[in-house]
Amino acid sequence: MVKRSSIIFFTCIVILLICDAASDVEHRKTYVVYMGSLPEESSYSPISHHLGMLQQVTGETDAASSLLIRSYKRSFNGFAAKLTEEQREKIARMEGVASVFPNTVLHTHTTRSWDCIGLVESVKRNVSGESDVIIGFLDTGIWPESESFTDKGFAPPPKKWKGTCAGGKNFTCNNKIIGARFYRGDSARDDVGHGSHTASIAAGNNVNGAGFYGIAEGTARGGVLSARIAVYKPCDNEGCSDAGILAAFDDAIADGVDILSLSLGGMFPPDDLYNDGGISIGSFHAMAKGILTVQSAGNEGPDPNSLTSVAPWILSVAASTTDRQIIDKLVLGNGATLVGDSVNAFDPNGTKYPLAKCKDRIYSDVCECLKSEIQGKTVLCNTRIDIKAHEAGAVGAIVKDSGVSNGPTGVTLFPYLTLSPKEYNVVASYSRSLSNPEAEIMKSESIADDNAPRVAKFSSRGPSVAVPEILKPDITAPGVNILAAYSPLASPSGHDDLDPRRVKYNIISGTSMACPHASGIAAYVKSFHPNWSPAAIKSAIMTTAKLINGPKDHFSYGLGHVNPMQAVDPGLVYDLSKQDYLELLCNLGYNTSIIKRISGDQSVTCPKSPARPLIRNTNFPSILIEEQSMKPFDVQINRIVTNVGFANSEYNVSVQSTSGVNITVEPKVLSFKSFSEKQSFVVRIVGGKLPAGSVLFASLVWSDGTHNVRSPIIVNILKSTRG
Ligand SMILES: *[C@@H]1O[C@H](CO)[C@@H](O)[C@H](O)[C@H]1NC(C)=O
Ligand SMILES: *[C@@H]1O[C@H](CO)[C@@H](O)[C@H](O)[C@H]1NC(C)=O
Ligand SMILES: *[C@@H]1O[C@H](CO)[C@@H](O)[C@H](O)[C@H]1NC(C)=O
Ligand SMILES: *[C@@H]1O[C@H](CO)[C@@H](O)[C@H](O)[C@H]1NC(C)=O
Ligand SMILES: *[C@@H]1O[C@H](CO)[C@@H](O)[C@H](O)[C@H]1NC(C)=O
Ligand SMILES: *[C@@H]1O[C@H](CO)[C@@H](O)[C@H](O)[C@H]1NC(C)=O
Repeated sequence: MVKRSSIIFFTCIVILLICDAASDVEHRKTYVVYMGSLPEESSYSPISHHLGMLQQVTGETDAASSLLIRSYKRSFNGFAAKLTEEQREKIARMEGVASVFPNTVLHTHTTRSWDCIGLVESVKRNVSGESDVIIGFLDTGIWPESESFTDKGFAPPPKKWKGTCAGGKNFTCNNKIIGARFYRGDSARDDVGHGSHTASIAAGNNVNGAGFYGIAEGTARGGVLSARIAVYKPCDNEGCSDAGILAAFDDAIADGVDILSLSLGGMFPPDDLYNDGGISIGSFHAMAKGILTVQSAGNEGPDPNSLTSVAPWILSVAASTTDRQIIDKLVLGNGATLVGDSVNAFDPNGTKYPLAKCKDRIYSDVCECLKSEIQGKTVLCNTRIDIKAHEAGAVGAIVKDSGVSNGPTGVTLFPYLTLSPKEYNVVASYSRSLSNPEAEIMKSESIADDNAPRVAKFSSRGPSVAVPEILKPDITAPGVNILAAYSPLASPSGHDDLDPRRVKYNIISGTSMACPHASGIAAYVKSFHPNWSPAAIKSAIMTTAKLINGPKDHFSYGLGHVNPMQAVDPGLVYDLSKQDYLELLCNLGYNTSIIKRISGDQSVTCPKSPARPLIRNTNFPSILIEEQSMKPFDVQINRIVTNVGFANSEYNVSVQSTSGVNITVEPKVLSFKSFSEKQSFVVRIVGGKLPAGSVLFASLVWSDGTHNVRSPIIVNILKSTRG
């Protein structure tokens, strides 16, 4: 049997193979055994403790060591192991065990797309402060040789850095990428492209002449050029395991990162904080150590309740469009030109291909033809593209936008585009009217989009199923068609086996791309305010956000579109401590054993009468109340703001109300005499009988003439009584 030392825990492939073999025979599954904070005693050895526990349940020394997959031993206590159901139950009853939960697979929040905006290059920067900021990325690794990550002009890592370069085979760090660890595969090298893309969005160098087949040309630039990157790789092409994610949190917190960026999450909205694949737990520990975790909201929109980023201490980021839109044109044989959506790098060079005429026979569930009828032709597809059409010989495809989101669209594997139903019908009737219809799918081009920013259809919407009383997502950031670094091992369309193209820069869409924009902004704020708490940084980014065009819907964009220039100087912040979050967990109705499990804090006690309605008093930068239908209400909400603007300042309140409620704020003026001074105020919301399911959006703004500190007020009238 394999003898383990701490080094071996990184070579998870070897261990997993051994354990998987055992699992076939004995029906073992991987469980994460979570044991809260590490004991203080210096003599405590987590690994021997964990092995001892496994020995107790298996009765064998050798077996125990082969079942242990990984020990968490740096920032919190616990381990991942292969267990039978019976062993799981035994371990769950052991002393010190806060919880045992199954290891689940999470996914990176992407699928391809374009454009890169960030802070303008000439923005005011605290260069020394910025080069001290370390962003940890939990992702698919990184391509260390990319021009986006060279370290020309970088000093050695900041002194506080306790991490290491353990990136595995043929992986070298530098003064930009200052640390690397992997929990999947044999190195931290990125063979998916996702991790290189996200890291370069937040903190990549300025790279001139980056582009993607001439569609989006220009400079690829990260938000914080001088910041450092620490790579943690719990994900690969197959997804991410929560055992790996927790291990990555454990390491990153101990290594000393400042911001954690997670462009990943579950595919289904978690119904509880402890069902989100370890992210609530890992990020709680990070928060307790002063580290803000930023996470993508999810790509499961546009339906309500589709949000997969739920932890109240996380900054959850929705995805929005930028002022550069990528379109694709279709020219029919009769000269008509239709404008569709896709990132299509293929140039037809003036060739029109025949449109397949397929009568009413169905080639597959989505494309309307038989295989023999589509070779060398362009095929019409009813709801979405089917790669099988391409494999069967179609040279192009025209897809009807079915109205539902199938996630972000991105770089195409072969020429195709999506058309609105109306335009699709134009093509369909043209095709029916002729015996030899033909069409040319043009190469994509960039145009200006005056309607930007708007929230992308695919971006997951709140309210969150797990905690509907808290407004989520928190903000929105660019996440549609972002050009950034990529891995030359992956194909730009994501179909590595069918697509021979390899690129250094790729266009991808997703809340995965929005997240690192927000992480970069958090790092930018941190570079000016190194001592701000995670909640203060969050508040600064949220209350300075710009309002979004179009109908109000805070459940799609949170407080609005990120506004980095203002975020460094918010005037006031709504701060929250670890203790406040523990109290929130009590009010959410979790018992102390669950709270210990999430927080790792074994000394937690809840106040005498915790209650869900008290959640509204948690000092968030947003205000949300839930009320019953057709029942008048009169509620008071408490908030505390901390002055981070001018020492001597006076803020006036203004309320933008909405019909159905009367909102008043007391006091109406807040006067501050010093920096860091705190002041409290009360918001009273009085409403009449409102119909079930109505959602009212109002807002309040504190202004000193220079700073405008905006909070939305949301009144959610429940559809039915919540038990
Ligand atoms: C710049 O960063 C340094 C180092 O973190 C910090 O001490 C200093 O206060 C910052 N300066 C400004 C103007 O924010
Ligand atoms: C290390 O990886 C780089 C990038 O793939 C490659 O160019 C180089 O040949 C590799 N070196 C070794 C020794 O494998
Ligand atoms: C169009 O021309 C370019 C340059 O000659 C060539 O690389 C490309 O393959 C052509 N496209 C098609 C669809 O034939
Ligand atoms: C705490 O809550 C969980 C989940 O609702 C439940 O399984 C557990 O028995 C509770 N523990 C105590 C001590 O009440
Ligand atoms: C709001 O205030 C107005 C004026 O005082 C009053 O007529 C109205 O009934 C109030 N609405 C509610 C919902 O209380
Ligand atoms: C706040 O309100 C007072 C009284 O209306 C006014 O004199 C003062 O100029 C206002 N201050 C700001 C910053 O708007």
